[in-house]
Amino acid sequence: MNSGKLAGRVAVITGAAGGLGAEAARVLASHGASIVVVDLNQNAAQQVAVELRDKGADAIAVETDVSDEDSVKAMVQIAVGEFGRIDILHNNAAILSEEQRSGDLDVVNMDVDAWDRAMAVNLRGAMLCSKHCIPEMIKLQRGSVINATSGLGTMGDLTLSAYAASKAALIMLAKSIAAQYGKQGVRANALLIGLAPAENAHATMPEKLLDIIRDNHLTPKLGTPRQIADAVAFLASDEASFVTGSVLSVDGGFCSHTPSLAGTRELFAELGSNKM
Ligand SMILES: NC(=O)c1ccc[n+]([C@@H]2O[C@H](COP(=O)([O-])OP(=O)(O)OC[C@H]3O[C@@H](n4cnc5c(N)ncnc54)[C@H](O)[C@@H]3O)[C@@H](O)[C@H]2O)c1
Repeated sequence: MNSGKLAGRVAVITGAAGGLGAEAARVLASHGASIVVVDLNQNAAQQVAVELRDKGADAIAVETDVSDEDSVKAMVQIAVGEFGRIDILHNNAAILSEEQRSGDLDVVNMDVDAWDRAMAVNLRGAMLCSKHCIPEMIKLQRGSVINATSGLGTMGDLTLSAYAASKAALIMLAKSIAAQYGKQGVRANALLIGLAPAENAHATMPEKLLDIIRDNHLTPKLGTPRQIADAVAFLASDEASFVTGSVLSVDGGFCSHTPSLAGTRELFAELGSNKM
């Protein structure tokens, strides 16, 4: 039997068929949690569940469209039917397809369908999963909700306006949940995730753009899915029992410095001095 820090806990992880969600599933399972792998992509979700079971964890895959309330309700019923409880909800699903990103531009050029899709999946999806998982947590008088947000949810940028607005709202949703159910033992936090390329949308990002982003990190390298998943496990566990309503940045310091830092670093290198 696993005696890890999440032993006996049940985690619902949305968008867990690949990328950061799948890595969070692996890491939470390694700490002893039973995992509900929730995704629109049933084949890939099944593969993750099989991989977890092969490693000795309890896991099921549930095909779910998080933007659809009936689908979310059915998922929660299956999860509770299988494992009897829900302790952890990681609202990680987001729509990040190439088609989505090519319509989610600056406001004047926004494809309104792309705006609606971002809000439906990223934001309404998190609200619906919270709406139906939190009552299960209240029964236990404990729970942890973790919303995946991004630096783009806190700072203006040239494109991805719908994604950014949905990610900003996810911070507020976490604070609302923390305020509303904290006395019943339910914590909620937003995890501000920096660029941690997985085998997904980021694989097609131009190298030059990655260089610009890397220059603005305070760490030598960009993040890894494992570094993000370790923070999810922390927020899910009792180690974070006094952490609620917060935004935890796991972004290599990307959002914590002056916008002029990378340019100034270059200038100082040219001058051979950092005297102002
Ligand atoms: N990877 C990064 O560098 C990074 C940086 C900042 C924030 N994030 C956030 O982390 C989360 C995961 O990102 P990722 O890079 O792993 O993305 P990803 O595209 O690999 O994973 C998203 C998953 O969500 C699923 N999904 C999409 N629509 C759905 C729906 N309607 N219902 C259920 N599932 C649906 C997809 O099938 C996919 O498996 C996202 O919320 C993203 O905004 C990621």
